[in-house]
Amino acid sequence: MGSDSQRQVFFGIDFGTTNSAVAMHQPGKEVQLVRFAFRGEEVPACRSILYFEPSKTAAGQRRVHGFSGPGAIERYLDADEKGRLIQSLKSHLSSRTLSGTEIFGRRHRLEELITRIVSDLRKRAEEQFTHPVKRATVGRPVRFVGADSEEEDDFAVARLREAFLAAGFEEVDFELEPVGAAFAYEAKLDHDELILIGDFGGGTSDFSLLRVGPEVRRRGRKPEDLLGNSGAGLAGDAFDARIVRKLVSPALGLNSEARSLNKILPAVPAWIYAHLEHWHYLSFLRTNNVREILRSARTRALEPEKIEALIAVIEGDLGYQLHQAVQKVKYELSRTDSAEFSFRDGAPGASTVELRIPVTRTQFEGWIADELAAIEHSVDALLKGAGVDPRHVDRVFLTGGTSFVPAVRRIFARRFGEDHIRSGNEFTSVAHGLALRAAAHS
Ligand SMILES: Nc1ncnc2c1ncn2[C@@H]1O[C@H](COP(=O)(O)OP(=O)(O)OP(=O)(O)O)[C@@H](O)[C@H]1O
Ligand SMILES: [Mg+2]
Repeated sequence: MGSDSQRQVFFGIDFGTTNSAVAMHQPGKEVQLVRFAFRGEEVPACRSILYFEPSKTAAGQRRVHGFSGPGAIERYLDADEKGRLIQSLKSHLSSRTLSGTEIFGRRHRLEELITRIVSDLRKRAEEQFTHPVKRATVGRPVRFVGADSEEEDDFAVARLREAFLAAGFEEVDFELEPVGAAFAYEAKLDHDELILIGDFGGGTSDFSLLRVGPEVRRRGRKPEDLLGNSGAGLAGDAFDARIVRKLVSPALGLNSEARSLNKILPAVPAWIYAHLEHWHYLSFLRTNNVREILRSARTRALEPEKIEALIAVIEGDLGYQLHQAVQKVKYELSRTDSAEFSFRDGAPGASTVELRIPVTRTQFEGWIADELAAIEHSVDALLKGAGVDPRHVDRVFLTGGTSFVPAVRRIFARRFGEDHIRSGNEFTSVAHGLALRAAAHS
């Protein structure tokens, strides 16, 4: 049936800041998710990550190999001489000043890097579904990270579209990620509801207020069923950066002092720690200039062991491992009231850096207070803009990895009551719903 048979299959793609997922919908059948092999398991989400490493051909020519997704992480961990890991690409899409980055002497445009991830997602989907994947409904945040206007959001979407087309898609249409999640939520409903969706990812927090359900579908959707959207360009990555600033960086000498002539000054300039907050830029600190600053700081520092630890982190290029430790303590604080941040760069007793720092959920919530306030503001602005009283919202559906954070859930419990909150399929609901949405608009 050629294009007719293609029309019976619909694809939804959630290209996330941290994780991506792909879903296929064939009307009358269960939505299927692409599975990715990771550490001996099959998982329905794939890290949106790239890894580049140089190698030499038999003729001695330098080559650079790129890997995406789970393969990128495995390759990175196995490598003796570490290459470049790149993550959170989506967070740069709205920036006109960030056009790309240089990797082992070659400039790569941001779109080109995203194409690499998306192209591998597409190939993996074709392999599993044994069906060409040429058109898809793709998610986009309400507000991209760093975007201050609709025009900047449009710019980001145009770049995303270009990346998808270069990855072999012939047709892509975009839908707001929370609206995608709403389609997944709606699929289980046996009655209509006015719902608020909150999708909290790595880069952004997105909200949509809409009416969904079987009756809405039957009578045909109307524009007024979508009462409004709002978004804040921050989420899990911003929480991680706070943990680095408040917990990790002080242990590595931030706020530490050094003697300089007769004055007491900060041992290490603050900009070096700003790089730690964006862990995949840590490799940029392995320069002679930084080495010189740190060597000199170590000799003058009042707490030289902290500077020693910072040097070990930079020289060992341990950004990824440090970030993993940050994530681990953040995840634990979603489950328990207190946890221990623990990080070391070698075997127990044989490492230069050995950090074990107790941390409570209350402390963490204090560190992310500004981000929580921005999220609250965005939710309130949506309700106000739509003229909807929280009491008239039937359900709140929270999804995305950062919705596991208790302080995030509390924002909604306070406004709508705990019994109105539903959550689930944190890493797949957007892709799942986008595939359903693709069918609804075909
Ligand atoms: N148990 C948990 N507790 C707290 N945070 C978590 C937990 N599990 C995952 N996260 C965080 O969720 C984020 C990833 O969520 P998700 O995969 O939904 O994001 P994304 O879709 O890639 O990003 P975006 O939607 O912003 O583009 C990361 O910041 C991760 O640290
Ligand atoms: Mg997401």
